[in-house]
Amino acid sequence: MKLRIAPSLLAADFCRLADQIKSVEEAGVQLLHVDVMDGHFVPNISIGPPVVRSIRKETKLPLDVHLMVSEPDRFVEAFVKAGANNLTVHVEAVSHLHRTIELIRSFGIEVGLAINPATPIRAIEHVVELVDLVLIMTVNPGFGGQRFILDTVTKISHLREFIDNRSLKTVIEVDGGVNNETLEKVVCAGAEILVAGSAIFSAEDPGQQVKEMMEKAASLSYHSKYI
Ligand code: DX5
Ligand code: ZN
Repeated sequence: MKLRIAPSLLAADFCRLADQIKSVEEAGVQLLHVDVMDGHFVPNISIGPPVVRSIRKETKLPLDVHLMVSEPDRFVEAFVKAGANNLTVHVEAVSHLHRTIELIRSFGIEVGLAINPATPIRAIEHVVELVDLVLIMTVNPGFGGQRFILDTVTKISHLREFIDNRSLKTVIEVDGGVNNETLEKVVCAGAEILVAGSAIFSAEDPGQQVKEMMEKAASLSYHSKYI
């Protein structure tokens, strides 16, 4: 499994976004996580397509766009045009999931499906093979800097087993409260993309923090009996 750290720009200083992106890019990250919130699906508002377009101009890294919005179909085209490399929608926010998956695919980009901490894996098992990644939220979406919810680790293990048993290629991403300590739990449970916001951008040197997280992640590996 290829482990990747995806810095969440939500925790970055938006007045210095280009510098902040550069610092994690130079440290070797392979993608950037962009959080979009609508004040409806989640109790917070963040950024929209114009900011994604500006980020796109600053970096060649893939933009992993996490849509925390109700009825995301309305915004798919705008974010594709703004430069998203994949769009992740919440199963809880979508009315007609297959239609949404097809809509995102029709633009030739990757499809992600996110689930909240309270949503069980069985709610998405039937569509895991239709998407490129499943994002398991390890906090309730809406804010950075929240505490990791421990019982989500069991969900990561179950999804890992589900994917491996069927030899699927679907990637497991985790998001929320990931830091130097919780990283061990999610990697050992089988996560492959680790989103981290405040752990990286609240650090004095975000680049150095990324390197530390990458080193730690590389020293660990998934083991099937981990709960
Ligand atoms: C939360 C967002 C996250 C957030 C993570 O709703 O989806 O991507 O930025 O921030 P931390 O790593 O601080 O929990
Ligand atoms: Zn996110």
